[in-house]
Amino acid sequence: MNHSPAPPPTPQIQPPSDGDIELRLLMEAIYLKYSYDFRNYTGASQKRRVLYALAQFKLPSISVLQDRVLRDSAVFGQLLQYLTIPVSEMFRDPAYFLALRQQVVPLLHTYPTVKIWVAGCSTGEEVFSLAILLREEGLLERSRIYATDINPASLEKARLGIFPLEAIRNYTANYQRAGGRQAFSDYYTAAYDAARFDPSLCRDVVFADHSLATDSVFAETQFVSCRNVLIYFNRELQDRALGLFHESLSHRGFLGLGAKESIDFSAYADRFEVLARPERLFRKTS
Ligand SMILES: C[S@@+](CC[C@H](N)C(=O)[O-])C[C@H]1O[C@@H](n2cnc3c(N)ncnc32)[C@H](O)[C@@H]1O
Repeated sequence: MNHSPAPPPTPQIQPPSDGDIELRLLMEAIYLKYSYDFRNYTGASQKRRVLYALAQFKLPSISVLQDRVLRDSAVFGQLLQYLTIPVSEMFRDPAYFLALRQQVVPLLHTYPTVKIWVAGCSTGEEVFSLAILLREEGLLERSRIYATDINPASLEKARLGIFPLEAIRNYTANYQRAGGRQAFSDYYTAAYDAARFDPSLCRDVVFADHSLATDSVFAETQFVSCRNVLIYFNRELQDRALGLFHESLSHRGFLGLGAKESIDFSAYADRFEVLARPERLFRKTS
């Protein structure tokens, strides 16, 4: 009698649903036609955004959307707004900016000039927050900020530095919790329903189109802030982006991520040390 153990059951691999196939084909079409690479974004949130876009465009299926995107670049431009999630706020997660002020800025002061990369800067709120903080800490005049994103409409808004007045109450509270030293109203003039921020804050900011998915490093920096961007990437793309940050950062440079992001389990986990874990601040070790 044969007593050898039964072979383990073969895992059941579910075939992708028709919707998932359509989604992958749409991302492939966008890449081939427009060179925007969304193929390594996480499936669930990407699917939600495409379904939302379908409802806005009043189209019956992803395949029909693909057809429209291929034939009409204006439709792609609109879809890009849904795919990129241009959501931001000033001094978002105030504890992050407080930790920057207290733990990173004193060390940045030891450099004669400082270069900072805000990757995925969206409509500019993070950049203006950083510029205010650096000015208050006497570092803005020695700093150059590279603010990059893949969404040209967001970059255009960021350059203007005009934010809705209705958000200012929340931003003021964030600013104070982030250790702000002045009256927040010193930094903007209000007109109608908008707050226009002091343009001198952005004198040394370079806003530029750059994709963490397809582009390479463009400058040596001492601090990279990339918040609420990696959360949309799969592991492979997160590693690509972290590789760019690692390559861009000078010896012992600083990296700041979003509250739900981490370098743990990434290919770069042992190339950084933790400076402030809850605030997601890291420092390059090797
Ligand atoms: C949710 S917003 C985060 C904005 C800001 N960093 C913050 O934390 O408030 C995400 C931004 O990442 C940008 N983004 C998405 N994919 C990108 C990529 N491959 N390269 C650069 N930026 C990207 C989007 O266009 C969007 O502006």
